[in-house]
Amino acid sequence: MQTKLIKVNPENPDPESIKFAAGIIKAGGLVAFPTETVYGLGANALDEEAAFKIYRAKNRPQDNPLIVHICRYEELGKLVNKVPSNAQKLMKRFWPGPLTLVLEKSEVVPYSTTGGLDTVAVRMPKHPVALSLIKESGVPIAAPSANISGRPSPTNAQDVYEDLAGRVDLILDGGHCQVGVESTVLDLTGEVPVILRPGGVTREELEEVLGRVELDPGLAEGQKPKSPGQKYRHYSPKARVLVVEGPIEAQVKKISELAEKLTVQGKKVGIMATAQTRGFYNTGYVLSVGDRNAPLTISSNLFSVLRKFDRMGVEEIIAEGIPETGLGLAVMNRLRKAAGYNIIKLE
Ligand code: TXA
Ligand code: MG
Repeated sequence: MQTKLIKVNPENPDPESIKFAAGIIKAGGLVAFPTETVYGLGANALDEEAAFKIYRAKNRPQDNPLIVHICRYEELGKLVNKVPSNAQKLMKRFWPGPLTLVLEKSEVVPYSTTGGLDTVAVRMPKHPVALSLIKESGVPIAAPSANISGRPSPTNAQDVYEDLAGRVDLILDGGHCQVGVESTVLDLTGEVPVILRPGGVTREELEEVLGRVELDPGLAEGQKPKSPGQKYRHYSPKARVLVVEGPIEAQVKKISELAEKLTVQGKKVGIMATAQTRGFYNTGYVLSVGDRNAPLTISSNLFSVLRKFDRMGVEEIIAEGIPETGLGLAVMNRLRKAAGYNIIKLE
């Protein structure tokens, strides 16, 4: 399969390109497109065969369900049996945006889309390219992140191309994604709302609307997560990753020592630092992931920096941890997984 790459204006995509992409979706093909979180690998969510193609293109395990993307609030009512009142409140406040709601699915959603589950995950993305593609296609679009399963999610078209060239019909290039980590997945099927995957909408923001919100205890290392996607090795670059957590001064000291030791052993070492700390390191290849006082800059760059280290041929990545408040919860969830829970915690 030849993969076409088309550049589109992220704010105001040209209608002809969107029409062309929508034609592929309607014909049962695969289109990678930008969202505000990460790039998605899209297909018609109501077409069983098209959904299967997504799993094959990504090498994705078939029990890992897909998120269904819509462009109008009314669409939700068709995909689920019931829209509870807390879902309505959340949609009003956070849609379009990086929040995915898990609800009981209706009959129109095929089991190939939900990985065999009786629930379906739905979100309305904020990105103009995503919204106009869904609208023009006239169908909801199932879209996991547009990476080969297990790799860091792509936040620009080049990263999509690296993983999926020859495996999808088209990539719409709309530049770099703003949020950089995926949507928050919130389960609304039980008594208390549960975050199955922390993401672009923070726990604090959800609690402002809902009161109590729980974190799936399965998100911790070694536990059994409720969300099928969270159990797999994930977000991993080719290099080995180690995360060093704790007070900043202690992090810098420890990381410097480790980087020196590994360098002496002949390893190519990458340090994932921050704007505040990058100047303190004298060994290794140092990249700043963003500003500790502006967590969106960190989430936005996280996956692309991991991929950059791979392109540089780095063998060992040592990353600084950040506090788990706000977007920091999602960032640390991805980073710890990328590291396979290879973590040093300092006092
Ligand atoms: O930001 C995002 O959510 C991106 C963009 C493209 O929209 N998409 C994305 O999809 O991250 P994916 O497939 O990489 O992650 C979907 C996550 C997985 O962890 C999956 O297990 C979970 O959502 N999920 C989907 N449907 C579910 C369901 N019915 N019950 C529980 N978890 C579900
Ligand atoms: Mg993914």
